Amino acid sequence: MVDVRVEKLCTDPELYIIRVDDDEIKYFEASWDIPEGITYNAYLMKLNGATVLFDVSKKDYADIFMEALKKLVDPKEITHIIIHHTEPDHSGALPKLLKENGYRAQIIGTTFARNLLQGFYGDEVVKNFKVIKDGEEMEIGGKTFRFITVPWLHWPDTMITYVVEDRLIFSCDAGGGYGIPKTVDDSDEEVIREYLPHVTKYIVTVIGHYHKYIVQNINKLKDLGIVEEAKMILPGHGLAWCRNPKRIFEYYEQVGAGIPTKDKVLVIYDSMYGFVERRMEIVIDELKKLGKKPVAYRFTDKEAPAVSDLLGEVPDSEAVIIGASTYEAEIHPRVRYALYEILDKANYDKPVLIVGAFGWGGVAAKKIESLISRSKFDLVDTVESKGMPTKEDEERLREGVRKLVKWIA
Ligand code: FEO
Repeated sequence: MVDVRVEKLCTDPELYIIRVDDDEIKYFEASWDIPEGITYNAYLMKLNGATVLFDVSKKDYADIFMEALKKLVDPKEITHIIIHHTEPDHSGALPKLLKENGYRAQIIGTTFARNLLQGFYGDEVVKNFKVIKDGEEMEIGGKTFRFITVPWLHWPDTMITYVVEDRLIFSCDAGGGYGIPKTVDDSDEEVIREYLPHVTKYIVTVIGHYHKYIVQNINKLKDLGIVEEAKMILPGHGLAWCRNPKRIFEYYEQVGAGIPTKDKVLVIYDSMYGFVERRMEIVIDELKKLGKKPVAYRFTDKEAPAVSDLLGEVPDSEAVIIGASTYEAEIHPRVRYALYEILDKANYDKPVLIVGAFGWGGVAAKKIESLISRSKFDLVDTVESKGMPTKEDEERLREGVRKLVKWIA
């Protein structure tokens, strides 16, 4: 059952998190399997003469969001609503909120945000909209609110808010992750350990297409000096970082840059009747002999892993091995889709070994080679052959793995 958690994060200033824990969702953006669920975080700050809401929630949960909000404040008393990013997982409940607010609140966001809100929800929603420029400051309730644009984290509309006197960063998608952590903040190391792989999966699937902007925008915030001095980083999904805020941006940079975990090699393949499977047994055996730690995702007649999980494994792998059958003069459909998404969302400068198997004509390997040649990945070798691998094929596969490992070194 979808629940809403309301907790006070600090007393001075009086700040609350309103967290909708969505365990009903199956496919984020109608694409990414997330059995771990997701949270939509909004924050409410009560100041002298002003009540500020940072982001809202998803339309489906507008009623329970409003119910939770009313425990903290009469919606009519909200003076400002800051919209960091208009994707409807954060803005869908805005029309209902504004109606109950009597359209009194000033909405603050970028020009892009204004245009997107107008397109999504109509003119009425933006009639009291204040457009801000990058770096602009506003005095609200005796505090200085600085707005900093971070385009493509996740959309062109996106910005963060820095509350100068309290050193708080409200970062929406940036710093977020999938999952419904047991705590609202980073006070429990066990919770963080469980949560971080969901953060990687979130970064790759949601922001992965724009991953160069992760490093670029975090550097922008670092150059402004606000990451170093931040007391809290408060994202729109997942944990609020109140103890060690820098940690989440460091983690984002690491994923954005594709920093590998030592010896991890990602192995992805389909196998319809065991011919590719046999090749991959040889490949995995050779990897292990050479001290590597293969992580395998296989598509067979008995299993089909979620592509969203597989994508989350790419950034910290040292190398990727792709095995595919030729299927109707194409790459096997499941590997084709996985590869398409890898090249779009997790396109990193990492070495690749291609392994192919075919019945009457090999096509898959060449098609994979062509896709790889147009990406950041480096093709190390291709080993493709017919039917069950022969002794010679086995030696070629082992040689391919040795080349790959040499490349990593
Ligand atoms: Fe969480 Fe891009 O919206």
